[in-house]
Amino acid sequence: MFFEKEVKEYLLNPEKMPKHIAIIMDGNGRWAKKRALPRKAGHKAGAEALENIISDANDLGIQHLTVYAFSTENWKRSEEEVGAIMDLLRQYLKSHFKKFLKNNVRLDVIGDVTRLDADIQEQILEITELSKEKTGLAVHIALNYGGRDELRRAVTKIAQAAAEGKLHPSDITEETISMALDTAAAPDPELVIRTSGEERISNFLLWQIAYSEFYFSDVLWPDFDKKELQKAIYYYQNRDRRFGGR
Ligand code: IPE
Ligand code: IPE
Ligand code: MG
Repeated sequence: MFFEKEVKEYLLNPEKMPKHIAIIMDGNGRWAKKRALPRKAGHKAGAEALENIISDANDLGIQHLTVYAFSTENWKRSEEEVGAIMDLLRQYLKSHFKKFLKNNVRLDVIGDVTRLDADIQEQILEITELSKEKTGLAVHIALNYGGRDELRRAVTKIAQAAAEGKLHPSDITEETISMALDTAAAPDPELVIRTSGEERISNFLLWQIAYSEFYFSDVLWPDFDKKELQKAIYYYQNRDRRFGGR
């Protein structure tokens, strides 16, 4: 595109930075396939890309970054692949955590962690506790996350409160639902990015994306870097968000 060539640097307006960016990190398998490597090598490269994007988002002053790492549907993959992803997750949490703390990054997990191995659940608890006071970028890692499952769990919580007489059904507002979701601590994402050329939501943040802007990139996740992130934000900043008004 002629326009793209003209924009050598994606100059961003600091006043129009999204507070919350959500990313569907897709394309690890294809990245590996292109190099005749096992899928697991793609996931490893994807984990490295995430490490860099976390620093970049922190440098850019983004407040919340939610990343889709493992969906409720991803259990359908081979045992070998699921095992490799879980091993990478263990290593990832262990090796990068100190650096994140040093950089004032807060780590948080969304999704139903109860289905993860006990040692991973412990690691998550420890990390969440140790980083809860951090005031820089909040990274929300979606693990065994599905938008429908999250809504189901939220409805269960609300129904429970109603059954106990703590809440009247007619007092249930949109806010009640938002606050019962795993993302209660974050504003809705202004920008959702999906890499690898796929243009679908795959059960990610169904409630929260009501008015998000979407940015689809053909770049495979392991190749997604700071420049690509800036490009996505640049396009976001140049969109006209109307929220139903005129
Ligand atoms: C995204 O990459 C990572 C996970 C879903 C865990 P994929 O593994 O889906 O990569 P492709 O889509 O097969 O290329
Ligand atoms: C979405 O990617 C889930 C994650 C990135 C973790 P998938 O690769 O699982 O999605 P589909 O199957 O292409 O919709
Ligand atoms: Mg995929």
